[in-house]
Amino acid sequence: MQVLAAEFIKGFIRMADDGYRQGWHERNGGNLSYRIKPEEVDAIKQNFSTENPFVRIGVKAENLAGEYFLVTRSGNFFRNIAAAPQENLGIVEVDQQGEGYRVVWGLENGGVPTSEFPSHFLNHSVKKAATNGAYRVIYHAHPPSIIALTYLLPLTDKDFSRLLWTMATECPLVFPDGVGVLPWMVPGSKEIALATSELMEKYDVAIWAHHGMFCAGPNFDLTFGLMHTVEKAADIYLRVMSCGQGLRQTLSTENLREIAAAFHIKLREEFLD
Ligand code: 13P
Ligand code: ZN
Repeated sequence: MQVLAAEFIKGFIRMADDGYRQGWHERNGGNLSYRIKPEEVDAIKQNFSTENPFVRIGVKAENLAGEYFLVTRSGNFFRNIAAAPQENLGIVEVDQQGEGYRVVWGLENGGVPTSEFPSHFLNHSVKKAATNGAYRVIYHAHPPSIIALTYLLPLTDKDFSRLLWTMATECPLVFPDGVGVLPWMVPGSKEIALATSELMEKYDVAIWAHHGMFCAGPNFDLTFGLMHTVEKAADIYLRVMSCGQGLRQTLSTENLREIAAAFHIKLREEFLD
């Protein structure tokens, strides 16, 4: 099968397009990666080249040794992915030590994987271990309302989680664990990759102050839907505050407990006092 005929490539491109249309990917902002299933690799690997050398990632994850990832190119504009996927996307193979990768398909004309690949890589490692292999998608975007909130709220997991849960009744159901928040850090660094992957031990959402958001999930729909729900909650808060009257009423802790009981979910208790 040709690489571009594979369903996972089509789903990846559709998600990237959807994110662009939401306004979350100005210029080259944001990046996306997918841990490819073994049967999906088998169906297309006759198109792979093994000529490229392995390159150090800068971080190590033994549980990702031998895995294949579909990733966006560093510097690529999301609006161009669908028009030229073989330039703007690449498939990389991880070495047997879990510390290097080589490009086996795509990234034509000298491209390299996203500068946030160390964060994607460690997040995949944490999520693969935590979900018994179920999680496969890591998504970074620059959604404006959540970025705006990082200039307003204290940068704590609890402040963000509590507020976002109460901005729409569906929110506690979509992210019952809440969201993690990092203070401002240098993007693309090993430090931000390590700090983000620590948050991913507890949450499916990590917010980078004054920068953007990372979401993790088992497939494209759920990961995109998670980003969309969190961003919409932030947007509702900003709309309410822009009316200049503050929050006249909102969901109470008791309401959150009622939602959890009715839908048989467990909300993170430390955010409920
Ligand atoms: P890349 O173009 O290298 O993916 O970087 C975009 C970005 O959002 C950095 O945080
Ligand atoms: Zn970014």
